[in-house]
Parts: sequence; structure tokens; C-alpha cells
Amino acid sequence: TGGGPAAASGHGHEPEDGPRVSVATLTGPSGGVPDVELTLTADAGPIEVGGRTVAGYTLNGTSPGPTIEAVVGDLVQVTLVNRSVPDGTTLHWHGVDVPNAEDGVAGVTQDAVPEGGSHVYRFVVEYAGTYWYHSHQVSHAQVRGGLFGALVVRPAAPQEGVEAVAAVHTYGAVPTVNGSTGDLRVDAAAGDRVRVRVVNTGSGVLRAWVPGSGYRLLALDGRDLHDPGRVAEQAVLIGGGGRADLEVTVPDDGSVRVRLGSQSVIVGPADDAPDGDDPRSTLDLLTYGTPTDVGFDPRAVDRRFDYAIGRRPGFVAGRPGLQWTINGHTYPDVPMFVVSEGDVVRMILRNSSGQGHPMHLHGHHLLVLSRDGAPSTGSPWWTDSLELAAGESYEVAFVADNPGVWMDHCHNLPHAQQGLVAHLAYT
Ligand code: C2O
Ligand code: CU
Repeated sequence: TGGGPAAASGHGHEPEDGPRVSVATLTGPSGGVPDVELTLTADAGPIEVGGRTVAGYTLNGTSPGPTIEAVVGDLVQVTLVNRSVPDGTTLHWHGVDVPNAEDGVAGVTQDAVPEGGSHVYRFVVEYAGTYWYHSHQVSHAQVRGGLFGALVVRPAAPQEGVEAVAAVHTYGAVPTVNGSTGDLRVDAAAGDRVRVRVVNTGSGVLRAWVPGSGYRLLALDGRDLHDPGRVAEQAVLIGGGGRADLEVTVPDDGSVRVRLGSQSVIVGPADDAPDGDDPRSTLDLLTYGTPTDVGFDPRAVDRRFDYAIGRRPGFVAGRPGLQWTINGHTYPDVPMFVVSEGDVVRMILRNSSGQGHPMHLHGHHLLVLSRDGAPSTGSPWWTDSLELAAGESYEVAFVADNPGVWMDHCHNLPHAQQGLVAHLAYT
């Protein structure tokens, strides 16, 4: 479910007495030749956005950094080199349920890599899907400034059709797709099916839709949907940090483009076709697709947590301001949610803070059971970045199958800085 730790090759010493615990469960495979290997060099420096040069961050000289492409089962090895990021930096593999030590959270799973330093990440990718990577050090500044890239894991069997990544990011006030303010054009022939992997690297909710012919929503947050039907005149909501894979069939004039509206992504079937108005109605993920096996029994609950998001006055970065709270506490005073390996965990998330929050749990995928009391009756809906609109409550379940200490935080990153951070810990 969550994609447990990869089988690590044994190394180091086992204690002769006491519990048989091994640090190897927390790390990626120490041996083995990587299938995908690259170095990402991080810099603080100028980037070009829409013809202007602004201060930001790059990886290998660009923002976004290179798209990492892998196949299910691949061992991925990335060497992060911090050439000139003064505050230090890390890489977090958003949505890839890596072993804990590979998670890239500065202050939790590693120290930030200082200027001049480097760090090697190794992990096996277990689920085909759309992911992204980004800094997890001073992330509200570094991610906004461009220290991120896309990560695509393909199934082992070659897929037919064409695909494109559309990483949507706002630099300052300038919305971009893959770092560019122009439309993203996808070369495809009439009749081709094009999979557009939309990555929302920002804080706000994106609405994505396809005018005219409509689309199929193939996957959310790196997990395929079961039996996805055609969606017409409905937008899919993608919260901050979330991903949605839309499939569109190329019409006779043979072109597809992705363009941005205000907080929206329009996958247009033709260059000069009108965008079509925002359909206003929204695809209900609770009823989309059909049910199938989820690999565990969500009714067999070992642990149950209530998680209420609120707001109160307090100090933010040393000044009076508004803090976001979890059960009345702000980070670092939020008690850890403690589980044991193998537990089926039920969480009730309630948002009474008056604003939306895209909540991201590291290391695990959550299965949505209900929203505002209405049960999920469609495809299993797995998520790692769940947008909780103001006033909404969700019931989710997951299997605690990836030992470690995992962040659970709002991916509207300034909100995380304002206290909306918790941790899940294994005993
Ligand atoms: Cu995409 Cu904790 O982050
Ligand atoms: Cu938030």
C-alpha cells in the first residue's frame, strides 16, 4: 500500500542480545548497481521567467530541474551537490514512499547539505506514477524559488501513446508550465491518446479540465484509478503538491497543448480552439471509477487518530500573527502520532480553520474512506496530498508499513512554517 521499505541487503552488526532490529530497514539498499543514476547540482541564482530574470534556485542550471525517469523496480541513485545554496538544501521525493533515511527532510531524516557538501539518495521505485522532488530545507522559500523537478515512474511493460509532464509552478506572481509562460505543446497524431501528468508544485488548488472531448483521469498522486470513465464538463481539483494524470484523445487536427488560466490547467485538443469556459462543476472522486481490492481491511482498525485543524493568534517567526493548529497545538508542540509496524491506522481529519489545506503525509499513501460522512463508492482513492477545503472532514486509512519518523504537514508551505506540521512515528 504505502510502498514499504525496499529489501535492503544486510550489513553492519546485529546485536547479539535484545530485539532483532536493523538500521537497514530505515535506509535504501546499500548494495546494487543503480538503474537510474544522476547528480543534481543545486545553486541559488538568477532564473529566467517569462523573459525576466528573477532570484531563485536551480538544479543543474535550470528550474524546474531535470525530469527523472525510471521504470518500476528500478534502483534510483541521486547525488545532490549543494554548490551555492546558502541555507543548505535537501531533496525530498514527494509521493515516493522511500525508506525513512532517504526522505530528505532536513532536521528529521538528515541534516541539510551545506554549501560545498553532497548527499547520496538511494531508493527503489515501487509504483508507476507521477511524482516530484523538491528541497525540504526552508522549503517555503526554496520550493517557491524553483528548487524542484518532476519524477516519472513508468510501468515495466512499455505503454502505448504519448505523454507529457506539465509541472505547474508560480514564480513570484508568474504562472508557468515546466518553467515557461507559453503553452506546452505536445506532438501527437490524430487519434493518439496523450497522458498529461499535471504536477501542482504550488500552494493553491488547481482546476484541470479538457474542453470539448473531455478526458479520463488515469491516476492521482502516483496511484492508478480503477476503471476511470470519461469525464466531460467537469474539472478535477489538484491540491498543492498533488498530481493528476489526464488522458486526452487527439482530435483530427492532431495537436494537444496545455495552457494555464487563473489557478487552472486547460488541456486543449487544438492550437486555436477556444479554451472553453471553466466547467464550474467538479469531478467527485468519491464516486469516480469502480471499487477493487485495496490490499488490506480498512475496517480492522488498530489505531485511530483525530486530527483537527484550527487557527489561533500566536507568534510566527518571532512576530504576532496567526498560527495554524493541529488539535490545538502548533509545531513543534504537536504530539507525535505513534504507530507500530503493521497497524491499520484510521485518521479523521477535520478542517475548521476557515481555509483550505493540502495535507501531505510522507512515506505512505492514504486511502480515502469518506468525506463529510459520505462513503467512497468508486475506485480506491489513494492520496499523499489531500486537499481539505474549509469545513471539510475526511476519514482515511493506511497500513503503517514503512518504519521511521514521517512528516505530515500542509503543503501550502508558508502554513507549515506557521505551525501546520505533525509527525508520524513508529514505536
Ligand atoms: Cu512535498 Cu514534506 O513535502
Ligand atoms: Cu495550509
